[in-house]
Amino acid sequence: MPKPPLSMKPTGWFQVAWSAEIAVGAVHRMTYFGREMVAWRAQSGELAVMDAHCEHLGAHLGHGGHVEGDRIVCPFHGWEWNRDGRNVCIPYEKRPNPLRRIRSYPVTERNEAVYIWHDIDGGAPYFDVPDVFGGFGDGSSARDYYPGFPYSTLYRERLQLHPQYVLENGVDFAHFKYVHKTPFVPKFTRQEFEEPISYVDFTIAFDEIPGMSADDMASGVQAINGGLGVAVTKSWGMIDNRTVSAVTPVDDETCDVRFTVFIGRQPGDQSDEPPRTAKAFSQAIIDQFLADIHIWSHQRYSDPPALVRAEYEGFIALRRWATQFYPEEIRA
Ligand code: FES
Ligand SMILES: [Fe+2]
Repeated sequence: MPKPPLSMKPTGWFQVAWSAEIAVGAVHRMTYFGREMVAWRAQSGELAVMDAHCEHLGAHLGHGGHVEGDRIVCPFHGWEWNRDGRNVCIPYEKRPNPLRRIRSYPVTERNEAVYIWHDIDGGAPYFDVPDVFGGFGDGSSARDYYPGFPYSTLYRERLQLHPQYVLENGVDFAHFKYVHKTPFVPKFTRQEFEEPISYVDFTIAFDEIPGMSADDMASGVQAINGGLGVAVTKSWGMIDNRTVSAVTPVDDETCDVRFTVFIGRQPGDQSDEPPRTAKAFSQAIIDQFLADIHIWSHQRYSDPPALVRAEYEGFIALRRWATQFYPEEIRA
C-alpha cells in the first residue's frame, strides 16, 4: 500500500468530527493535514477549530486547556484566545498581544457533522458543504429522517487511501457487480464535473428477485460531491436513505473515513432512535461501504489507468476535475 501520489493537502471542506462529539465547553484533540489541532465549543454553542499549540510558549491547548465563555484558556500561563485564534487576555499584563495569532480554520456544522475548510495558503471558502437533506432541492429536511449519529455511522482511522479514490467509485460502473454484488451494471444518467461541486446520478439494483425484470427492480442514487472531502447521496426506489461519506487526510500517508446513514422516518414516528428495520437497512449500506474501503485501503493509484472505452469519459472527467483542489498541481 504505497503512499498515494496525489496531494494529501487538498483544498476544500473536510469532516473532522460529528457535532455531538464536542459538547459545550469541551476541548477535543485531533490531527489533520499533518497538524495538531483542537476543536472546542464556546458557551454560546459555537465551535472553533485551531492549531493546538499556544503562541506564548507552546503549550498544547488540548492537554489541560479549558473553555471560559467564548475563549479557550491556556493551561500553562492562562493566556486567553478567542475563536479566531486572537489573544484577548494576558492575565498578568494590562493588554493582550495583538500580533500573535493561533492559526484557526473556517468551520461549519451541517449533516450532524463538523467540517473545516482546509487551504494550504489560508484562502477563504469558495463553495459550501452540500446539505444531505436540503441539497437535492426536494423540500426534505432533517425532520424527515432518523438521526444518523450515533446509530448508523462508520468511523475508520488512519487508512492508507485518498479522498479521490472514494469519488472515483461514483463513475466506476464496473466495480458494482464485483464489490457490491449487484446483479446489473448501473447506468449513469448524469456526470457533471464543471464546478467545485459535482454531480453523479445512476440507476442500480441490489437484490435479485426471481420473476422480476430489471425495470421493476430499478432504483437509483444521486450524489453531490462537495470538493474531494464530502459526498452526499440520496436514493430512490429502495428504502429512503441519505448518506454522507467524508475522507479527511491525517498526514501525508493516511486518511480518516467517516460515513453516516440517515433512514427516512416512518410516518408519525417521532422517536429519536431508528427502529430495528431502519438499523438493519443502514447496516446493509454500511457493509457495502466497507466492501469499498477494503479495496481502497490496499489500492495503488494507477496513473495513467488502463481504461476500456466505456470507462474513459467518466474517469477522465473526474480526474481532471480533481486537479483543481491540489495546490501543487495548480502551482506547477
Ligand atoms: S504557553 Fe500558553 S499561556 Fe504560556
Ligand atoms: Fe462502491
